Amino acid sequence: MTGTEGGAPEILVRFDQVFKSFRTSRGRRQVALDGFSMSVPTGAVVGLLGPNGSGKTTALKALLGLARPDRGTITAFGRELPADQRFVARRMGALIEGPAFTGSLTGEHNLRLLGELHGARRDEVADVLELVGLDGAAHRSYSGYSLGMKQRLGVAAALISRPDLLVLDEPMNGLDPEAVRHMRELLKRLRDERGMTVVVSSHILSEVELVSDWVTIVRNGRVICDASVPELLARGTSRLVVRVHDAVTARSVLTDHGYTAVPAFGPAGAELQVEPPATRPTPSDGSDVLRLLTERDVYPRELVVESASLEDIYVAAVRAADAATATARQEPRHGT
Ligand SMILES: Nc1ncnc2c1ncn2[C@@H]1O[C@H](COP(=O)(O)OP(=O)(O)OP(=O)(O)O)[C@@H](O)[C@H]1O
Ligand SMILES: [Mg+2]
Repeated sequence: MTGTEGGAPEILVRFDQVFKSFRTSRGRRQVALDGFSMSVPTGAVVGLLGPNGSGKTTALKALLGLARPDRGTITAFGRELPADQRFVARRMGALIEGPAFTGSLTGEHNLRLLGELHGARRDEVADVLELVGLDGAAHRSYSGYSLGMKQRLGVAAALISRPDLLVLDEPMNGLDPEAVRHMRELLKRLRDERGMTVVVSSHILSEVELVSDWVTIVRNGRVICDASVPELLARGTSRLVVRVHDAVTARSVLTDHGYTAVPAFGPAGAELQVEPPATRPTPSDGSDVLRLLTERDVYPRELVVESASLEDIYVAAVRAADAATATARQEPRHGT
């Protein structure tokens, strides 16, 4: 499968304005998806990120036909759901809300039984066990598996039908750092060696940051950010840090030119955190700051351009969405 065609990514799954609410036991309506729209590019690892209760599992369940949207459309493999759910289900493997296996049987036996449903041969079962790193524990009974081993067997079960699209809901939950790393390596291998498209949810950015090509951030049932990782990183503004002996003069030079310069105390002593004027058309690479200062005989000891991390962008997106929600609440609605 190819990830891109003529620059624009080919889209394997698309959610368009999906709404889903549940009735709670107290008879109240709980909105889980509130106009949820996202796209999954073919051949990518997509990180579906969001805080607890933001709607990740509900969205994935809707894709798998385990939750029926109230409104909106979901298309996958060019087919519309739920009408073509069976067609799509044959091409998808999923691990949602923990796997169910028989405790008294070995990992291999559990997987073999599942494989029979999908016509998987014994060597394919062995291959999948090797892929998830369980070949050494294949003949131990499932009840004796650690949490990480259980998660791996769950992923193996999702892979046994040789899917084109793998959907994993919080597969890194409860894993130790070594196992998280192993899971990331596995997802990359599945993408690179088997051409799979992978959707992996998490509420911890660092868990999926290193493996995702594409990031979708969900908040209160709505997608607040849906973009490729390079695009996101380019979107984030970099931060300039200037270390000077005479911070007072440096600050006045910069503020005279419309820059914001906030004094701070960093690991290397006193510094100024500098932001270019909002009117500046391109991000600053620091040369403008250096020129302004040296023209006034202020020579920085150090000037660092710190580019925004995905975490900065995540936090900024969440804050912007919260601010927009607060504004919408304050403003009276017209015509809706
Ligand atoms: N079966 C259900 N009945 C009632 N409410 C539900 C049901 N399933 C989900 N919800 C509610 O819908 C919202 C979204 O839940 P969902 O499980 O999709 O979130 P999530 O992002 O997966 O959270 P987490 O990170 O904790 O797994 C929550 O407010 C949740 O309480
Ligand atoms: Mg969930």
